[in-house]
Amino acid sequence: MRPAHLLLAACASPVLSLTIPLAAWEAVLDAYDHLRHPNPPAALAKPSEYEVGWADPRLNGGRFLDFTTPKAGEPLNVIISNESDPYILTEPGFRAYYKSIGFSEECLGLHIGHIHDADLGDGEGRKGEHILARQYYFPRWGTCWESIAGGNHFRAWKQNGTDADTGAWFLAVSKEENSSKNHMIVPDGYNIGRDLLVENAAGVTHWNGMWWQVDVEWREGLLAPGHKGVNHKIAQDGRVAILTVNRL
Ligand SMILES: *[C@@H]1O[C@H](CO)[C@@H](O)[C@H](O)[C@H]1NC(C)=O
Ligand SMILES: *[C@@H]1O[C@H](CO)[C@@H](O)[C@H](O)[C@H]1NC(C)=O
Ligand SMILES: *[C@@H]1O[C@H](CO)[C@@H](O)[C@H](O)[C@H]1NC(C)=O
Repeated sequence: MRPAHLLLAACASPVLSLTIPLAAWEAVLDAYDHLRHPNPPAALAKPSEYEVGWADPRLNGGRFLDFTTPKAGEPLNVIISNESDPYILTEPGFRAYYKSIGFSEECLGLHIGHIHDADLGDGEGRKGEHILARQYYFPRWGTCWESIAGGNHFRAWKQNGTDADTGAWFLAVSKEENSSKNHMIVPDGYNIGRDLLVENAAGVTHWNGMWWQVDVEWREGLLAPGHKGVNHKIAQDGRVAILTVNRL
């Protein structure tokens, strides 16, 4: 059967869809992608040595997807430039900053999940996330509520290996389902999660007597749009938000 036929068959029969093996599902998704985007996505830009405030991981063996599994990953869709307030490039400073935009550390260490690796091209190869933070909904429940209700979260890695010691933070942001779905990413959850974080950061934010204002630059060409190699095969638009956070 050709993939397009498989797609039709899968749409036509919910019963059949339950019995299709995973590899066939991937063929169906690829065929669907091809129907929706008959032209291949815009060519990726060649990595430049002249980025300001961070280094392109692709120059030195890295990529803009983390390693959730040995092959598939989640998009590194937000970068915090090293031209930001030097304090937020430190770990305590970054924790203070992300509280100002509505995120906090894991709830009492209850997170059920595994550490994702990322290769930022800084000479350290694949390294485990330095930070996992979740959206903070209500002061009363804090992140414990988010763990049950689902919501926005991110993992962050610092680009601080000796080959590219820029100090920039790279974030993989995504919105996930509530715990009844075992922390599955919602459809379009990579784009939604990134956009929500950028919205939260917009304007002036503050925490603990410190005030910040963010400049946002949107970039394409760093990360291929689509679902190829993306964890859960959830398509994303390939846009990366580069934030410069100024202390007021
Ligand atoms: C910031 O990153 C640039 C690379 O984009 C690097 O040349 C510069 O040294 C970095 N600045 C700091 C303070 O690490
Ligand atoms: C890089 O930054 C992370 C996060 O702050 C820290 O845990 C790690 O020790 C740093 N690595 C180096 C080589 O400085
Ligand atoms: C979790 O999500 C499912 C559907 O996605 C919904 O039916 C359920 O009410 C949600 N539970 C909570 C606690 O939000």
